Amino acid sequence: MIYLDNGATTFPKPECVYETVDRFGRTAAVNAGRGAYRAGREASAMIRQVRQSLLSLCDARGQAEVVFTHSVTVALNQLILGLDWKEGDTAYVSPYEHNAVLRPLQMLKKTKGVRMEELALSPDLRLELDAIAKQFETRPPKLVSLTAISNVTGYVLPAEEVFRLARPYGSFNLLDASQAMGLLRLRFGQLRADAVAFAGHKTLYAPFGIAGFLLRESREKLLREVVTGGNGKNSLSLDMPSYLPEKLESSSLNTVAIAGLQASLEWLKDRDPWREEQPLALRLRKGLEAIPGVTVYGAPEGTEQAGVISFNVEGFRANEVAAILDHRHDIAVRAGHHCAALIHRRLNDAVYDGTVRASIGLFTTEEEIDALLHAVSAIDREALKGISADILRGNC
Ligand code: ALA
Repeated sequence: MIYLDNGATTFPKPECVYETVDRFGRTAAVNAGRGAYRAGREASAMIRQVRQSLLSLCDARGQAEVVFTHSVTVALNQLILGLDWKEGDTAYVSPYEHNAVLRPLQMLKKTKGVRMEELALSPDLRLELDAIAKQFETRPPKLVSLTAISNVTGYVLPAEEVFRLARPYGSFNLLDASQAMGLLRLRFGQLRADAVAFAGHKTLYAPFGIAGFLLRESREKLLREVVTGGNGKNSLSLDMPSYLPEKLESSSLNTVAIAGLQASLEWLKDRDPWREEQPLALRLRKGLEAIPGVTVYGAPEGTEQAGVISFNVEGFRANEVAAILDHRHDIAVRAGHHCAALIHRRLNDAVYDGTVRASIGLFTTEEEIDALLHAVSAIDREALKGISADILRGNC
């Protein structure tokens, strides 16, 4: 298989991650923060170290705490639903946000009368800072939520600039770095973010089952806990502990996945993923743009292009293209709407039923990109024969 669905999850993982998960799972996978025995203490110490590594990765030592969750969707729900919302409060989102941000906000809109506003976009789909400044002036933001990199087009959003505009209003600035942590150099202080959410299994190259967020220490009081339960601390109290990270962490932490994350963070230390991926991202984009009948949905001209790029082929629905790539060429891409409800309205892709998305990772090669380009150039109706209707509709 040629795997070009790294936006969904990076695959494969570095060998050291598999080795660590296997070894840790067999020898040390006990519950951390509970048993008064050596293995339990060692698991807790390992988790503390991983928290420190994540803070170092984002230059956030002394400014933030790391809270772990089982998925980044849970992390984003905690950050959004945990704020003290009142009717008429305004949450701003970029039109590039993932449904893990949009759906909690939609729920708040229905249950609490929160306003969800889209940040202004130019006709070429870049965030428009002047217009955004006016939006904030008219309706001050309680929350601004931005994805660091679009999971549909690979646009690197100007988060620092937007957060700077929001800061004077006391906004809670949330960066969804699911597609970015480990890939982009994120500097917590400079970003003016209050929280940065991450997914271990994407650009951090860890296994599924570990995610979370960095939370600015001074903003901790703004959040109430959304999921409560045991965590081995203050067990006689019916209330969650009042301090981080335990205030926002309940249930057993996934020590095996955290050990995998420790290994992947170590592996990433010796690399410069953005610089490594750039030539391939540009090869992919330019190559797709050169194929007649292909529409490319990439980052706006003049902005940086991450290795996530959408496209369509004239005369084919997005799912049909993905099915052909899979069946005829063993190339794995994602097709459809990528859990990003808002941006597709701007891409004018309704006739294609979404987009085909190719996304690269640190194991992608030039030959794999060329194989995709070759396969896309060769697509014709004949290639659809023999593929089941269910697969062509994307029901897999
Ligand atoms: N959010 C993931 C993606 O973009 C699953 O594919």
